[in-house]
Amino acid sequence: MPFSFNPDIRYAETLPARLYTDSVYLSLEEAKIFGRCWQLVGRVADLAEPGSYLTADIGDEAIVVVHDGEVLRGFHNICLHRAGPVATGCGKRQTLQCRYHGWSYRLDGTLHRAPEMEGTDGFDPDAMRLMPVQVATWGPLVFANLDLKAPSLAHFLEGIPERTARFQPEAMRFVLQKRWTIACNWKVYVDNYLEGYHLPAVHPGLYKELDYDAYRVEPHRYWSLQHAPLRAGHGPERKYVAQGEGDDAQYYWLFPNLMLNIYQGQMQTNVVIPRGVDRCEVVFEWYAVDPPADASADPTWTRLVAFSDEIQDEDIGICEVVQRNLRSRSYDRGRYSAARENGVHHFHGLVHEFLT
Ligand code: FES
Ligand SMILES: [Fe+2]
Repeated sequence: MPFSFNPDIRYAETLPARLYTDSVYLSLEEAKIFGRCWQLVGRVADLAEPGSYLTADIGDEAIVVVHDGEVLRGFHNICLHRAGPVATGCGKRQTLQCRYHGWSYRLDGTLHRAPEMEGTDGFDPDAMRLMPVQVATWGPLVFANLDLKAPSLAHFLEGIPERTARFQPEAMRFVLQKRWTIACNWKVYVDNYLEGYHLPAVHPGLYKELDYDAYRVEPHRYWSLQHAPLRAGHGPERKYVAQGEGDDAQYYWLFPNLMLNIYQGQMQTNVVIPRGVDRCEVVFEWYAVDPPADASADPTWTRLVAFSDEIQDEDIGICEVVQRNLRSRSYDRGRYSAARENGVHHFHGLVHEFLT
């Protein structure tokens, strides 16, 4: 079960293939990584009014986040009676009511009404409340953490709010969402995101836009930042043109599974949710300071989304083949490019730290 990991990239080997193919490791990751880390679960705008709520999954755990009139609160979406769901989808309610036998809970999680329980000995509704989870927000995003003892979201984000302040993330509003189900382990997708090494071979279109020689990854405690400056020049076939000084995009990745691409006037969030050891769901959301009334009818947005889809399709193609090949009896571990894969090595170091 345990595996070795060298913190010095020059001597290190990549994660053993079984971590991508054996569901024992997925269970371990759900408990030790997804059960202890902050997860993006929704949008602040959907919880603006008292009584508004949303539901989400963290790994294989269901949660609900509510605006109780004063603060946002989070709970396991599990009724104390026989584990029914106390909320479904999203919406607005005065109490949370279980869909199974109708027990209802106040928005602070305390049990409000449990019909026909009078004859049950020692049953004390006043002492019962939904199991809480931690909730916090940053900019337009709502995060939750199943671990009540986990350090704050601010601790995990360390420095990101300051570095992105000039892009005004708190002024960003939701534009559109896309979802993909991909036949690979969630870590295959994350590994792929964390390096620019595959740009020339996998993304010839994007490669033309970016200054590959200046591409670098800056690892921090729980996140890393990729610098991918645009190439100089304007040619007619160019898709991106820098608007001015300091206009470069910032590509953040927050352990374990969140990517935040942020630049002038826009932000994309990308969450990779495990759906089995060899399957993941990627939820991609776009935000903008000045969103169009209808993104699907806006030519600038249609072009941006089409280019992003093209890159995503290229990444999906390679990730799915890699997943299949990780099952081969011929392969176990590889080596890192010290020049190009320090972001992947940093991620694997965190996986090793949390699992062992
Ligand atoms: S499981 Fe919720 S009321 Fe029965
Ligand atoms: Fe890629």
